[in-house]
Amino acid sequence: MSKAPMRVAVTGAAGQIGYSLLFRIASGEMLGKDQPVILQLLDLPQAQQAVKGVMMELDDCAFPLLAGMVATDDPNVAFKDADVCLLVGARPRTKGMERADLLTANGAIFTVQGKAIAENAKEDVKVLVVGNPCNTNAYIAAAAAKKVGRTNPNNYHGMLRLDHNRALSQLAEKTGRSVSSFKKLVVWGNHSPTMYADYRNCESNGDNVKALINDHAWNNDVFLPTVGKRGAAIIEARGLSSAASAANAAIDHVRDWVLGSSDWVTMGVPSDGSYGIPAGIVYGFPCECKGGSFKIIQGLEIDEYSREKMNFTLKELTDEAEAVKDML
Ligand code: NAD
Ligand code: LMR
Repeated sequence: MSKAPMRVAVTGAAGQIGYSLLFRIASGEMLGKDQPVILQLLDLPQAQQAVKGVMMELDDCAFPLLAGMVATDDPNVAFKDADVCLLVGARPRTKGMERADLLTANGAIFTVQGKAIAENAKEDVKVLVVGNPCNTNAYIAAAAAKKVGRTNPNNYHGMLRLDHNRALSQLAEKTGRSVSSFKKLVVWGNHSPTMYADYRNCESNGDNVKALINDHAWNNDVFLPTVGKRGAAIIEARGLSSAASAANAAIDHVRDWVLGSSDWVTMGVPSDGSYGIPAGIVYGFPCECKGGSFKIIQGLEIDEYSREKMNFTLKELTDEAEAVKDML
């Protein structure tokens, strides 16, 4: 007997990440090749015609798992009974806009959407925020959801999987080994150039990767800046921000969360106080997923260099939290 469809809400459905994401969700790459899905697509009123065009293309793929589609500009409709929400749509930074202006503009969006999710979605809904600044947007959405109280605020995540995947590729290139050989990598902190990609615990075919590379200067002067500034490098090269790789990371994050992970995965999750990160701050942690739940890997040793890097990225997040506190 076939499974009941799962409802997946995607915001910013007419945008470039949406265009890379929706077809893969409908083909079963995110929730499984035996899992029918209903897509609930949210975008602004002026983007509704473009959403209709994307839906026509989804129809034309004749995906066997696509059990239905809804297009709307109303968050209450988009999030109705949703099992998974991918919050991609966000206000981009425009000329003359300071970071604080962006935080305020997006704060308004994520307050509304966090509340609408909590009021309308399934109680165990899983929410992944992709729209930037994704950690703080997830923090805002979780705070709005907490007020409503129906859903689990710990299930409001920010996306650091793209940073994790970028770091894996850099390690593969440096060592000449396959990406799949690397286990136990983590990217701590914010999805921003301050993030700390940490391969001290990482293993490749039984070797410790730190010992294998044994090059502190490369770690500090090449690896960390390359991973941290990769988004800007892509904007510079493409004239547009990353889209297919961002959509791929979103699929990886939700697939592992729902279906289970075979390795540590980096997830931006509300801190439970682990590693001295203040409770509630949405921070990149090493996680393991099983049975539809995630847990933060505990007990890792934090050396002085790592603590400094972790505090630096934390400071950016606590400053952002301070900047939006009046909205919460
Ligand atoms: P885009 O401009 O192509 O598309 C954004 C879409 O969101 C548009 O269709 C727009 O109409 C819609 N939108 C805007 N406000 C909305 C709202 N309130 N409700 C619903 N829809 C709304 O942008 P994109 O390239 O798809 O990127 C989307 C976001 O993802 C950006 O914030 C970008 O910075 C971010 N991003 C994050 C990561 C990450 O790793 N976390 C990676 C890449 C991009
Ligand atoms: C990325 O990392 O590619 C995105 O967050 C886009 C950006 O602004 O860096």
